[in-house]
Amino acid sequence: MDPDLDPLEHVADLFTRILLERQAQEAREPVVPPRDPESLRDVLDLELPNKGQCLETVGRRLRDLVRHTPTTASGSFFNQLFGGREPASLLGETVAAALNNSMYTYKVAGAQVLVELELIKQMGLLVGFDDADGVFTPGGSLSNLTGMLLARDRARPRLRAEGFSGPRLRVYTSKDSHYSVAKAVTLLGLGSENLVRVAVDDRGRMVPAALEEAIRADVAAGHEPMMVNATAGTTVLGAFDPLDELADVCEDHGLWLHVDGAFGGSAVLDPDQADHLSGCGRADSMAWDAHKLMGAQLSCSVVLVRERGLLARSLDENASYLFQGDSDELNPGTRSLQCGRRNDALKLWTLWQSLGNEGLAKRLAGFRSLALHAAKIVQEAPDLKLVREPEFLNVCFAVDGVSAENLCAELTDRGLAMVGYAMVDGEAVVRLTLVNAQADENDLKLLFKRLRKVAAELREAALMRAAS
Ligand SMILES: Cc1ncc(COP(=O)(O)O)c(C=O)c1O
Repeated sequence: MDPDLDPLEHVADLFTRILLERQAQEAREPVVPPRDPESLRDVLDLELPNKGQCLETVGRRLRDLVRHTPTTASGSFFNQLFGGREPASLLGETVAAALNNSMYTYKVAGAQVLVELELIKQMGLLVGFDDADGVFTPGGSLSNLTGMLLARDRARPRLRAEGFSGPRLRVYTSKDSHYSVAKAVTLLGLGSENLVRVAVDDRGRMVPAALEEAIRADVAAGHEPMMVNATAGTTVLGAFDPLDELADVCEDHGLWLHVDGAFGGSAVLDPDQADHLSGCGRADSMAWDAHKLMGAQLSCSVVLVRERGLLARSLDENASYLFQGDSDELNPGTRSLQCGRRNDALKLWTLWQSLGNEGLAKRLAGFRSLALHAAKIVQEAPDLKLVREPEFLNVCFAVDGVSAENLCAELTDRGLAMVGYAMVDGEAVVRLTLVNAQADENDLKLLFKRLRKVAAELREAALMRAAS
């Protein structure tokens, strides 16, 4: 390396090399075979040194580390609800890291705050909030927590000052909702026993009549219903709770309606799928992860609030050493759970600039068509059984005579594919999620070929064991 090279040029050069090497690795080795942590510690130079190392050495160690890191951007990654790599988002993320602003005030983040405000406005309009308030958070879990905090503070305006008193505040969510809802209930001091899990129909959608019944029973028992968490895109089945009907129930009982659209919020981007969120504009708050279906680098989540001022009412504390000048509107720190906060908005802005509304719609439509294609493959395969028609982008299926857990582990261990499993109707099934723009029909075909071959081998091995 040229000794006269400016350190930043050196860093840029190292970054380019690492990125291109990673891309080549993804093509060569779409799944990095897992290793146990002890053997990984042996091959990696993880120890923190006494003496500082030159950038070339740091870069070498970093490259080793990258080579052994699981791949989430290849066409064989079908695991959780994110995946792939959008170049424009990576660009925004890298620049945001280089700029190193903290998003609490206009004073230190300036134009970046305007980017965040523009995104909140546009995302709000898309879901039917005419003049949305909102803030970027570190993920859907925190966006859900924020929505629930506002609901709690509306139900008990004196709680922040005096602490809890009075009847139990009750939160309603479907049996299939994400675990972050249960976590938020305990974090906010509401008590896990006050989370009421409402029944779902055979498609995994909350049943409004069951909700109504639960609310009435709680009122009769002297409890105080507080909020409904509706899920737009459940984690396992991808189901959308019927938002309009739930909004009716909430209106009748004066309850806060929060929509957990961490996964499915992005459906509004595709005119053919936007109906899933019909009624969303009647909600009070909503969580929407751009790092899932939109393809923004992790993490990138927004909590949107229909009524302005409520975020600040729950979160604005006096900090004269921080909030100096500029209106509160321009100081997002007055609306955030965090103090120092990284810039998660820029990577979404660069992504949106690059794809445009049309490109985002195409992205979502492409996922849906892949999901339908996967479901067709499953239906036509004699050894696979589709356990539900795909509601959205999740394809859940059982594999003849093979445990989904073993099958998924085997696929990853052999470096063939990363796919997850989940419980449906009390049975572990493969849960394939089509959310990775790097994966196309050929990847899907290859996945099923490999999956069925490994399944056949597992069945064969089980037969041999039984016979011996
Ligand atoms: C429905 C739903 N809500 C919330 C979350 C949590 O989002 P995050 O991982 O960004 O915290 C997830 C994550 O998969 C989810 O599926």
